[in-house]
Amino acid sequence: MDEKKLFIGGRQIDESTFKRIMQNKERIPDPMRYKKEAMHYRRAGASGLKLPEVSLGLWHNFGSMDNFEFMRDMIFTAFDNGICHFDLANNYGPRGGSAEENFGRILHENFASYRDEMCISTKAGFGMWKGPYGDGGSKKYLTASLDQSLKRLGLEYVDIFYHHRPDPNTPIEETCYALHRLVEQGKALYIGISNYNLEQTKAAVAVFRELKTPFILHQVCYNLLDRTIEENGLKAFAAQQGFGIIAYSPLAQGLLTDKYRYGIPDDSRMRKSFTLKEERLTPALLEKLQSLRDVAELRGQTLAEMALSWVLKDKAVSSVIVGASSSAQILDNIKINPSFTEEELAKIETICKA
Ligand SMILES: NC(=O)c1ccc[n+]([C@@H]2O[C@H](COP(=O)([O-])OP(=O)(O)OC[C@H]3O[C@@H](n4cnc5c(N)ncnc54)[C@H](OP(=O)(O)O)[C@@H]3O)[C@@H](O)[C@H]2O)c1
Repeated sequence: MDEKKLFIGGRQIDESTFKRIMQNKERIPDPMRYKKEAMHYRRAGASGLKLPEVSLGLWHNFGSMDNFEFMRDMIFTAFDNGICHFDLANNYGPRGGSAEENFGRILHENFASYRDEMCISTKAGFGMWKGPYGDGGSKKYLTASLDQSLKRLGLEYVDIFYHHRPDPNTPIEETCYALHRLVEQGKALYIGISNYNLEQTKAAVAVFRELKTPFILHQVCYNLLDRTIEENGLKAFAAQQGFGIIAYSPLAQGLLTDKYRYGIPDDSRMRKSFTLKEERLTPALLEKLQSLRDVAELRGQTLAEMALSWVLKDKAVSSVIVGASSSAQILDNIKINPSFTEEELAKIETICKA
């Protein structure tokens, strides 16, 4: 007998996913969520704040063009499996701001009484609104942007507020002081920076230290294919100074999974978004990915699981922030085993550096 075809938001899904999604409005979080022992927690640098080894980022798939019921389903799947850290930014969407609005609605409708079990972060630093005050690192922009984010999220404070990228046209003292004031005003508990290079980080750390700002995290791109923070000394500096590295795009936007193993699927980021270009998928890269997949298989892991475990092998990394377009992907991405033999590490290095 033919299986019934079921669709939500133009996407074909199986019957059990359909039934679950239809019931999500009334769903409550799984009472066993911390008993599954699937998720481990690490301190963000030397701070007291614990983060799940795997966090969920809302850069893609949570915007105004995406299906709300899939978003709600992903937040439930994450939370029910110990992922209690959700990473946002003022401009996530598209439309900029819509990821915060959608997450805020899910919080309000399903998780209102679970706020204190969640660590919620947002950022400002990229262009968000027109005119001279909607971009950069000025006190004016950062202060206004966090106020807007809090409204969209329906929150009184965020747990972590980041400066999303360095602004060479604003004195670092002004940016750091603006972030510091937001903590003093109770609008953010902790501060992070993102995409700063080593020199910019050193300058910011010096100001934060003087102000006694709870600066705890640096959010950077780090994965098997992108070793910038190893090469520029940022990872070593973080470990030495006691702030945590939180790695974004740990799956290289999906390259380090089986998504592109047999071609470019229509439902992939490479097809749907400008952030992952088709030119990246060269025969040399596909060969490299296959060699990494072979190592992963010998470890009893998928390529995605090994890629995330590899980023987490080092204690300087506090968490990896994964993205997902379905609940199934989130479930695929939580089986972490960050211990590697010397032989495995050597093999991985040989493949990656070839
Ligand atoms: N601070 C910054 O400047 C910055 C920059 C980038 C990201 N971030 C943060 O980091 C988060 C994660 O970034 P990212 O989305 O690039 O991370 P990523 O985990 O490297 O890539 C996520 C994408 O990979 C695919 N994927 C994930 N798991 C899969 C699986 N098991 N099997 C097959 N495909 C899988 C999905 O793409 P498909 O849609 O193709 O299924 C998914 O959307 C963002 O949401 C954001 O919070 C921050």
